[in-house]
Amino acid sequence: MNTSEFKFQTSDKKVENLSVTWQTPSNIALVKYWGKSEPQIPKNASISFTLNNCHTITSIQFNRTSESSEADFELFFEGKKKDDFKPKIAKFFKRIQEYCPYILQYKMIISSKNSFPHSSGIASSASGMSAIAMCLMSLERELNSTLSDAFVNKKASFLARLGSGSASRSIEGPLVVWGNHPEIKESSDLFGIKFPYEIHPIFENYQDTILLVDKGEKQVSSTVGHNLMHDHPYAENRFIQANENLEKLSVILQNGNIKAFINLVESEALTLHAMMLTSNPYFILMKPNTLEIINKIWKYREKNNSNICFTLDAGANVHVLYPHSEKTEIELFIKNNLAGFCQKNQYICDSVGFGAKPL
Ligand code: PMV
Repeated sequence: MNTSEFKFQTSDKKVENLSVTWQTPSNIALVKYWGKSEPQIPKNASISFTLNNCHTITSIQFNRTSESSEADFELFFEGKKKDDFKPKIAKFFKRIQEYCPYILQYKMIISSKNSFPHSSGIASSASGMSAIAMCLMSLERELNSTLSDAFVNKKASFLARLGSGSASRSIEGPLVVWGNHPEIKESSDLFGIKFPYEIHPIFENYQDTILLVDKGEKQVSSTVGHNLMHDHPYAENRFIQANENLEKLSVILQNGNIKAFINLVESEALTLHAMMLTSNPYFILMKPNTLEIINKIWKYREKNNSNICFTLDAGANVHVLYPHSEKTEIELFIKNNLAGFCQKNQYICDSVGFGAKPL
């Protein structure tokens, strides 16, 4: 695997101080990534919708100091010093040091906040890691003015991936593929790429209402979950199936066959959780209300010939997906019939977005 293009070479400028701010989105996978090998190489290709409203805003103040052997940084989350997040970020900096050696020459003050409520059960690692990656690339660009936009996005995704796999899909939008797949040109295990084919208009401005079923800390982290795929009896078939599903979904996204989309996306969500149920040790992240909601969605869809469907992340929350053309009636259904299954009736209305933005 050739990672040499991501190694920082030369700077044409000295930068003493720089302050940058990026807003980067969360994403929701349609074909799921579950299972990886070192260093953050996915066992199968995945694809996600980039979200619009669920995002992280991160500022980094870089101040040049004498070079140290490890990254020197302070971390603030929602205005408060957050030392318990530091080990994860320190590990990330260690991992990317060979590609961004300049980070050792700066003191970094990182300040971050999320648009979604704290501990809402929405994974913040994708938007969090991609935001830091974009901030680092802003510094890199100051140091080397010859970098193209395309390279900046590619390397940001490459770096974000080393922090959290799914973060590689949180730089661009509206649909991003991560993982090498023979049918998706230019796809790579090292970084995410924009879905390279024309998308049918039915998937434009697609809606995702996130039902906050359980806002507690997950009992099993995704790191542990990925690891349990190593000795998993169904893992090899799952990886084959996921790649086949991505190939099918690629066709569906182009031809607009929404019934096939619904079938594939829901099957992917349940398969992800089936992998958890059949791991050893086994675990369940869905809650009773997750199942109540799924059943209500199925009944509503049948009764109204609707195109509503769901997907799940590694948690109990339900992402309700639907075309923009059905927004009015489905939002009413969610408000009247699904909100009651959410903690404190809370849900977040989101839709497909276009990726990272400088602020
Ligand atoms: O990026 P990680 O290591 O948190 O893994 C995320 C895995 C899922 O969210 C369950 C699926 C995916 O493809 O995003």
